[in-house]
Amino acid sequence: MMNIAVAQSGGPTCAINASLVGVFRESLKVAEIDAIFGSINGIEGVIQNHLVDLKSIILTNDDIELLRQTPSTVLGSCRYKLPDSSEDEEVYRKIADTLVQRNIGAFIYIGGNDSMDTVNKLSEYFRSENLDIKVIGIPKTIDNDLCITDHTPGFGSAAKYVAVTMNEITRDSIVYSIPSVTIVEIMGRHAGWLTASSAVLHAMGETAPHLVYVPEVKFSIDSFLSDVRQEMAKHKAVIIAVSEGIEVPEGVQSGVVDNFGHKYLSGIGKYLEDIVRSEIGCKVRSIELNVMQRCSSHLGSRTDIDEAEAIGSAGVRCALEGHTGKVMVFRRVENVPYTVKIETANACEIANREKFLPKDFINSAGNNINNSALDYFLPLIQGEPHLITENGIPKHFAIHEYVLK
Ligand code: F6P
Repeated sequence: MMNIAVAQSGGPTCAINASLVGVFRESLKVAEIDAIFGSINGIEGVIQNHLVDLKSIILTNDDIELLRQTPSTVLGSCRYKLPDSSEDEEVYRKIADTLVQRNIGAFIYIGGNDSMDTVNKLSEYFRSENLDIKVIGIPKTIDNDLCITDHTPGFGSAAKYVAVTMNEITRDSIVYSIPSVTIVEIMGRHAGWLTASSAVLHAMGETAPHLVYVPEVKFSIDSFLSDVRQEMAKHKAVIIAVSEGIEVPEGVQSGVVDNFGHKYLSGIGKYLEDIVRSEIGCKVRSIELNVMQRCSSHLGSRTDIDEAEAIGSAGVRCALEGHTGKVMVFRRVENVPYTVKIETANACEIANREKFLPKDFINSAGNNINNSALDYFLPLIQGEPHLITENGIPKHFAIHEYVLK
């Protein structure tokens, strides 16, 4: 008999709890797994020996269903950079102590490219210390910027939120007779996947978003203003999707960085709004989708949530087969009918790397997305989750705050 531990790390998504459900449900099925521990605040909980017994918290099938539809990370999260073991072995010893003391034979880490660095380093350390603890990564991020995997759990739901909201903003923006510009700021860090996904509206015959700016294309204010003027000549209300990660002058963003040295990006929409107001002088509004794009599970993609659970389950099976230092990934087999396979990749090939939008997704002017790219995005946003509601509000599963402290 052995125990298993699971933790969640990095920025929240609508699907990361579904992956936790996958790990939990799969572990329940396995006779040789006894306790299922959840680590509070990612790897920090393992370092501090702050683990909870998930079987005593997730008690019923209703709890499982609620957890599946709950956005964010029920176990809390972290942005913790594990040092190299040669620099600081103490932290590795603490992690090993917690896991060994609790007879944990497999540690499943649900996170993005930074978290896969932890998967890689820990699996190597355990190997070098002859500790039989398997470490498996489950991908997640709304940024969709992980290498090797076709896409990441959490992206499809965020993409759906962005597209639906963009469509609704468009309806709202066109009511007046005066010309206007609406700038929608979208997350995604240095990769333009989420911003580009707003172009799925083109598949429905919508002309919005009329302009799409992604970090993969060098941004110039002069070209931006000329693009806006051209679109204003064609449309009364111009709708613009802009990635938070496009290059802007120092000072537009706060300059604050996280433990991985990533800047907190925010403010580009407002910056462009001010420029349009002063240079063009029309009605202009900026909308920062902010955290709503990663926690609005009422607008989630059923495909995304189902896949997130499936890849969590696959992670447990992978550990039980004796693998370590692996990340579960999706390989797309077909677009129609949409089919994916779950495979494994080496964590070292995903850790700390970023995957960017392919060049052929972006139009030649560098200010919109080609229709041919929509085949990639569309399958990921299909289907609506069946939500359990109370008073008309989707219910969430929460563990007590004192546990999270
Ligand atoms: O990494 C996912 C992400 O949501 C990015 O899109 C965003 O830039 C970042 O996290 C925000 O970080 P935080 O959750 O620390 O505010």
